[in-house]
Amino acid sequence: MGKIVLAAKITHVPTMLMSEKPGRIFGTRQQAIDGHYEIVRRAREAGVDTVVVFDSHWLINAGYHINSGEHFKGLYTSHEFPQFIQDMEYEYTGNKALGDAIAKKAMQKGVHTESHNIESLTLEYGTLVPMYFMNKERDLKVVSVAALCTVHSHDSSIKLGEAVAEAIAESDSNVMILASGSLSHGMWANEDYAANNGTFTISSEFNQQMDLHVIELWKQGRHKEFLKLLPEYASKCDGEGNMHDTAMLYGAVGGVNYEGKCELIGEYFPSSGTGQVNMIFPV
Ligand SMILES: [Fe+2]
Repeated sequence: MGKIVLAAKITHVPTMLMSEKPGRIFGTRQQAIDGHYEIVRRAREAGVDTVVVFDSHWLINAGYHINSGEHFKGLYTSHEFPQFIQDMEYEYTGNKALGDAIAKKAMQKGVHTESHNIESLTLEYGTLVPMYFMNKERDLKVVSVAALCTVHSHDSSIKLGEAVAEAIAESDSNVMILASGSLSHGMWANEDYAANNGTFTISSEFNQQMDLHVIELWKQGRHKEFLKLLPEYASKCDGEGNMHDTAMLYGAVGGVNYEGKCELIGEYFPSSGTGQVNMIFPV
């Protein structure tokens, strides 16, 4: 029997990569990087062999989609931020059986989901950035689930998350689940970025106050309340991918019945106008 060994909401800001290179950003994202290291350390302690990532940079316009490739290898440059992520080499093994099983479970719930094993279907940086830090040994298998959902309800994303948990339970995999996306996501307007030291600041005090409140709700295990506000929080605070990664995470850990008291790893931090966090959802 497989199990979820760890679940977390995580940041994937490209400045984490730049934080390791000489220049203006050097060293500035170390606490976020350390957060990734700590999360994977605990997952490894719990016997993780597979990572399922809800990737808020994989945009989908119909149905749900899972990248169940058997093998991923490439040289990645971001189309969004070619100046930030360039020529990042990667190579990971997939877990096709688990990806296929998730899609099957979701279809049984009436959530149209397709599992793909297509060599040219590559990974997005919502998966690649956390894997860069958490999967340096390249021994953890990777399944990437599209979570930049443009025409989907949070309820159906929660059901997809439930399908993930059910498929894991019937598999032989020990899985770490990562909701890879920010809290609020109000990117700075282009013309305001430089004047506001945009790399290191948030664009909206309202967004920041909501983020801080949500972190408290999560710490206190007040998930029923959070799920009631999720759709409004996502729309009013510019949720990354409309926060479908978070909806999927909730589905996987128990939805409205989830009572875990979440643990902030490191600090909440602003980045390019957005609010970022690494936070473990105990399972
Ligand atoms: Fe992002």
